[in-house]
Amino acid sequence: MRSPKLFTPGPTAVPAEVLETQARPLIHHRTEEFRQALTASMRGLQYVLETTHPVVILTASGSGAMEATVVNLTRPGETVIVTEVGKFSERWREIAEVFGVNVVAIRTEYGDIASPESVERAFKENPGAAVLFTTHSETSTGALQDVEAFARIAKKNRALIAVDAITSAGAHHVRTDAWGLDAVVGGSQKGVMIPPGLGYVALSPAAIAKMKAGRHPVYYFDLLKAVASAEKSDTPYTPAITIVLALEKALQMMREEGLENVIARHDANASAVRAAVTAMGMELLAKVPSNATTAVLTPGDSAGAIAKHMEKRYALKIAGGQGSLKGKIVRIGHLGYYDEADMYTVVSAFEATLNDLGLSKNFGAGVDALRRSYQARSAR
Ligand SMILES: Cc1ncc(COP(=O)(O)O)c(C=O)c1O
Repeated sequence: MRSPKLFTPGPTAVPAEVLETQARPLIHHRTEEFRQALTASMRGLQYVLETTHPVVILTASGSGAMEATVVNLTRPGETVIVTEVGKFSERWREIAEVFGVNVVAIRTEYGDIASPESVERAFKENPGAAVLFTTHSETSTGALQDVEAFARIAKKNRALIAVDAITSAGAHHVRTDAWGLDAVVGGSQKGVMIPPGLGYVALSPAAIAKMKAGRHPVYYFDLLKAVASAEKSDTPYTPAITIVLALEKALQMMREEGLENVIARHDANASAVRAAVTAMGMELLAKVPSNATTAVLTPGDSAGAIAKHMEKRYALKIAGGQGSLKGKIVRIGHLGYYDEADMYTVVSAFEATLNDLGLSKNFGAGVDALRRSYQARSAR
């Protein structure tokens, strides 16, 4: 049996050129060869995050990079604001609470996003709030938030803004410097097309200054130490060497394609999939959808059966819902190394699955809408 092709919003498909880097004999990390790879990777991440600030690479998944950001950017007893619009943005709150930080949560229904007005109001009611923690692409609902607007409000209130860009990096513009973002967090098994194991954080001068002025006790996730090492093309501890080599290769591929083209490809794939599922008579969960994943409301409790059938019958892995969305949605991932042909594959298998399971009697509307969407774009 083939292993299923991934159409999940992480881990995502890994290109063959990147996989090849994983098969080479291991090199040592305190060598010129590794330092060059690390430096190239950090520069590549600056390119993807549109920043000249340091981007440190941590040996941890995205959640580890989130924890590092909270621990370094806050102090015990401080108040922070969190936009809580899904499972992953709840994680910001959970981490902050573990460290004794007071959290003001702006909560919405799953599928919605926080409005700039609600963020304004939260700052007005909590004038001392030190940091706004937010999520650009909320992967659990497929929604995209307006972090540029949030950043303006945070600045006006002399607060820092920390952004989870774990599934927006590479799928959308994340204009770290232009928007004035202070900490931007990413993860490896996402838009940068490599296996899990690395997290990364871009840090503005204001973020670094706040860390220097006071933060929680921290050892492994000391971002000041990580920045100091990065300046010397180094890491404080043993890094995940082979995954950094994969990252270097993947970022080189992204540079060759060009960031604008990478984002345009994500936009084309995401728009086409949304058009397809809508034409199939299904509803999208997200009011403002992200290019990373399409969350589709499924009839009754069929989500689990749909995902299972896709995997067993068509060897394609899509994701289900999390938390209270379990059983109610499926999420089709199109983040990273996916092209038009991949979208035909996943949409036609999805449509076939709905027919196989007796959930639809109509085959072809989705694939036709997919084709029309790509055609309309190429006619522009
Ligand atoms: C938006 C977002 N934040 C955080 C995470 C957690 O990252 P990880 O699973 O790498 O710890 C994910 C993972 O899917 C995510 O999509």
